[in-house]
Amino acid sequence: MRMNVNELLISLSRTLDFAEKGVLRNNYNHGMRVAYIAGKIASALSMPDEDLFDLISFSLLHDNGVMKALLESPSRETFSTETNPAHCVEGEKNIATFPFLKKRKNVILYHHEHYDGSGFFGISGRAIPLYSRVISLADWVAVRFAAGYLDDVIVSQVNREARIFDPVVREAFLEMSRSVEFWLGMGDMFVQHSLVSMLPKVSRELDFKQTRAISQIFSNIIDAKSPFTGSHSRGISEKVGVICQYYEFDETTYWEMRIAADLHDLGKLAVPNEILDKPGKLDDREFRVVQSHPFYTRKILEVIKGFENITEWASNHHEKLDGTGYPYGLSEDQLDFNSRILACVDIYQALTEDRPYRKAMTHEDAVKIMAEMAQKHLIEPAVVEDISSIFS
Ligand SMILES: [Fe+2]
Ligand SMILES: [Fe+2]
Ligand SMILES: [Fe+2]
Repeated sequence: MRMNVNELLISLSRTLDFAEKGVLRNNYNHGMRVAYIAGKIASALSMPDEDLFDLISFSLLHDNGVMKALLESPSRETFSTETNPAHCVEGEKNIATFPFLKKRKNVILYHHEHYDGSGFFGISGRAIPLYSRVISLADWVAVRFAAGYLDDVIVSQVNREARIFDPVVREAFLEMSRSVEFWLGMGDMFVQHSLVSMLPKVSRELDFKQTRAISQIFSNIIDAKSPFTGSHSRGISEKVGVICQYYEFDETTYWEMRIAADLHDLGKLAVPNEILDKPGKLDDREFRVVQSHPFYTRKILEVIKGFENITEWASNHHEKLDGTGYPYGLSEDQLDFNSRILACVDIYQALTEDRPYRKAMTHEDAVKIMAEMAQKHLIEPAVVEDISSIFS
């Protein structure tokens, strides 16, 4: 697949905003804003294009560990990225297989370090990776910008807190901060456009394994959203892999299906945990919120070039053959075989996992329920039969 990894990440990282919104309230566009500011600083430091490219990827992913850290945090209400080192540790772990142009260690781990050594891990000065020093300042500025601080207030605070920033990075920022365009460009309405227009034109051939490495990062984030879905996407992706081999799909289809399985619940990042983790039955309004998730999945995936099949299969996983599914109410003739596979595996995986309102079912019980659903013309009978024999 020929693609610009930064563009792919911009689409996917919009879901991290959903993830953070529950915690950081007005923090829409946070990843993109950090990437924009970091990119501007990098240009002021005359960083070569390839380095700038990786820096933007790191910036878009800098808070990818928030979901996992939140899951393990004692309180969602008091959670803040500025006081939580776990999101740095989890974030660093989760990007280990990301196909950066150059390998760099500890960029995410140290993105909250202070130049004077007063940060989470006590690393100081140039022992902190350069990218981390850039992201640290960009993040600090982005958080305050999103909270509504005016540009001159942010600048004077950066000066007051000078000891925590790399002086060279801070100088580059102060230089830029004199430009009116710099501040206007990071507003909510423009930040995506500003970022896209400064992306280095580094498009590369990613093989499916590399693309999957990226989708897996997001699958881990989705799975970390709720204690009840701890390994839901991973489980589906593994089972889908087994089924694709059983059907002897070609290699391209195999990987596209694995990626679709990784990302099918991407839109769940937009569903509040109060609803996802609710122990009782959902009321109508809550159920409508849950039903929105495959819609978000489609909106995020459909803009990615080369993801046409993946978008289709991932976003159709709650559709039913008789047209009663959601969110599109597609009918039989609009649901191809691969969409049906994913829908079936999703149900099988869900039934055999613990839920807030019931315990995991056995293989036999799950298959029995699915056979009834197939009989009612909701899901594909052939796939149910194959699931029944493959996973017994
Ligand atoms: Fe952070
Ligand atoms: Fe951040
Ligand atoms: Fe789903």
